[in-house]
Amino acid sequence: MSGVSLRNVTKRYGNVTVIPDLSLDIAEGEFVVFVGPSGCGKSTTLRMIAGLEKVTSGRIDIAGRDVTWARPKERDIAMVFQSYALYPHMNVARNMSFALRLAGRPKDEIAERVRIAADMLELTPYLERKPKDLSGGQRQRVAMGRSIVRDAYVFLFDEPLSNLDAKLRSSMRTELALLHKKLDRTMVYVTHDQIEAMTMADRIVIMKDGLIQQVGSPKDVYNTPVNTFVATFMGSPSMNLLPADLSDEGGDVFATGAGFKLPLPDRLQEAARNSARKGITLGMRPEHFSAEARAPHFSAVDLHVKVAEYIGSSQYLAADLGGQAVTAAVEVGPESDLMTDGTFFFDTSRLYLFDRKTGDAF
Ligand SMILES: Nc1ncnc2c1ncn2[C@@H]1O[C@H](COP(=O)(O)OP(=O)(O)OP(=O)(O)O)[C@@H](O)[C@H]1O
Ligand SMILES: [Mg+2]
Repeated sequence: MSGVSLRNVTKRYGNVTVIPDLSLDIAEGEFVVFVGPSGCGKSTTLRMIAGLEKVTSGRIDIAGRDVTWARPKERDIAMVFQSYALYPHMNVARNMSFALRLAGRPKDEIAERVRIAADMLELTPYLERKPKDLSGGQRQRVAMGRSIVRDAYVFLFDEPLSNLDAKLRSSMRTELALLHKKLDRTMVYVTHDQIEAMTMADRIVIMKDGLIQQVGSPKDVYNTPVNTFVATFMGSPSMNLLPADLSDEGGDVFATGAGFKLPLPDRLQEAARNSARKGITLGMRPEHFSAEARAPHFSAVDLHVKVAEYIGSSQYLAADLGGQAVTAAVEVGPESDLMTDGTFFFDTSRLYLFDRKTGDAF
């Protein structure tokens, strides 16, 4: 199969197992983002795809070819790292063409490829400048340009935006997504930032302790997280997890806990009814709280608001719900003052249930 495929890949350093057993198929042209907390094995996996790190066992195919033991330059890959070093004495054009010149490509071809890459990255006006005369974002684009000129089969990115400020990161996210459209190449991108993953990925791979927790589109992983780890990792602010009991009242199942009694949505009713587990973990995303009841399935909850933060179109509330700390993100109008204690509403169609012991979703 084309694209990138990892089959039962493992990685051990001495007796430390970093990747216990990882299998994944990445389709040709797909933009896949690996996301997970620090130390979960994202960079290790990417470096094994690149051939910068040897696998302990398993197999890696790129473009239908077994490259498990191939050297990096035999893999048709281009890689962009978090800490890129541009050559300070070379101008942008020469920085971008460095690899091509090293490979001894013809002059005309080099000029043409640099022209195309510079155009794509909007660097054309800066080709004669030295790196010190560029902004951070322009430098980052030059670093991208150095790999794009090579027109590899797979582009590998390891946290390429983490040195940039928030505003630049957000505009580079958009540019990268556009670049993926223009280049139409397979891209594998590593980040610990769930927003980067959500905004850019065709599919997100969420990792923890070297193990894939879930693979899915941004919509999938946000709407149907497989466990509490994914549920709390994806989405900002994080999903609230509360201990609750299930109670069947004449066929209608409710989740009850200190300070709340919420009807479960239709999609969870049957699983909840059939469940022998009384004690569960209830998941409530902050953004599904509201200051007003907007539909019949909005249920009232009393929040004791400790801190209200003004975000703009919404307020983040650090609150107490029946003795449990919860975060609520409540939309507000332009005239709203900071929220105080009171009755709020929760969209019960967006509730989640998890096994209290295993954390697996219902
Ligand atoms: N040479 C090594 N010897 C032993 N352990 C290593 C070695 N290199 C990496 N590790 C371990 O492998 C694990 C995964 O590291 P990796 O760099 O892949 O994490 P990561 O997910 O990229 O994290 P981060 O977000 O911090 O970059 C870490 O626990 C790390 O300590
Ligand atoms: Mg890393």
